[in-house]
Amino acid sequence: MNTMAAPRPLTAIEKYYRFHSRIYDATRWSFLFGRSGILDPIAAVAKPTRILEIGCGTGKNLVTLAQRFPDAEVTGLDLSATMLDVAESKAAAFGGRVKLIHRSYDAPLDAEPAYDLILFSYALTMFNPGWETAIECAQRDLVAGGHIAVVDFHDSVFPWFKRWMGVNHVRMDGHLQPKLEALFQPQTDKLCSAYGGVWKYLMFVGRSPRSGGF
Ligand SMILES: C[S@@+](CC[C@H](N)C(=O)[O-])C[C@H]1O[C@@H](n2cnc3c(N)ncnc32)[C@H](O)[C@@H]1O
Repeated sequence: MNTMAAPRPLTAIEKYYRFHSRIYDATRWSFLFGRSGILDPIAAVAKPTRILEIGCGTGKNLVTLAQRFPDAEVTGLDLSATMLDVAESKAAAFGGRVKLIHRSYDAPLDAEPAYDLILFSYALTMFNPGWETAIECAQRDLVAGGHIAVVDFHDSVFPWFKRWMGVNHVRMDGHLQPKLEALFQPQTDKLCSAYGGVWKYLMFVGRSPRSGGF
């Protein structure tokens, strides 16, 4: 793992995942819907070779990405060292093809765009503040014509549910979709219902504009 020394107090998110990293894989299947399906529209139109997942957590999607795109180099980035500790053994199974980076995504990774697919899976709603910057960074890290894929919570009509998600550091205000639509050419852009309408989640795939716009 590429671990940057971080002599600083842990953020609220890092503290949260010190415990939740232990139960994450056993529990999140029951409510983080769409994590596999978000890759279907990409696989139908493109064969990405340099893939980045921002907020990769315990690495479930890194495995899916590496299996689905066997010629691709896959990089997972996350703020939480404890989540990356869990991801490490999954990444190791692919030799050097899956790499991990420990940092916050608050600036582009490279001076030049280097990735043809960037995935955010249930990450952006936890970037508070920072979600707008992260989307803008992804636009700069994506090569022209590359794809961004986002699956995440969207909104709920139930205030108690939004409050509960807020306790878990998740913002559910339908705030991601307009920003994504403004910066990327939508290929897939839909809201899906979970548990009979308790909440909606967003599935968005967009293409990075080539120079001159969409
Ligand atoms: C709900 S988990 C999602 C993990 C994985 N993508 C999945 O679908 O299972 C959100 C992840 O985003 C990470 N995260 C939160 N803020 C971040 C930031 N500013 N930069 C990088 N990662 C961040 C958290 O540490 C956590 O691992």
